[in-house]
Amino acid sequence: MSAPATLSFAKDIRPMFTDMDVDHMKRAMDLSDRDSVFKHAKAIYETVSSGSMPPKSSGEARWTPEMCAKFKTWQEQGGQP
Ligand code: HEM
Repeated sequence: MSAPATLSFAKDIRPMFTDMDVDHMKRAMDLSDRDSVFKHAKAIYETVSSGSMPPKSSGEARWTPEMCAKFKTWQEQGGQP
């Protein structure tokens, strides 16, 4: 098995956050910013994988297992920009 391709924040992670996500979470963290997302990666992963974020009330779809796995891999690879 080959190692997974290196994921990048700009290409792979940033597009998974909607404008609404970025806007609503601004007070706590900046989901459009690599450093902020990497710093909060563990907490973000917990909320998206449990389905608590984005909240159902927002009307947004829950992250798929593929999206969650991609996020986790990006974190484990050291959060490439
Ligand atoms: C440490 C991680 C996070 C914490 C502690 C957190 C916490 C919160 C809290 C307290 C609210 C307001 C109350 C609520 O509407 O339930 C909120 C709203 C929201 N969050 Fe998060 N959040 C986190 C991550 C995220 C992530 C990763 C996303 C998107 C993938 C997200 C998307 C949203 C959206 C769209 C709203 C607005 C919901 C609405 O107004 O209907 N949040 N978040």
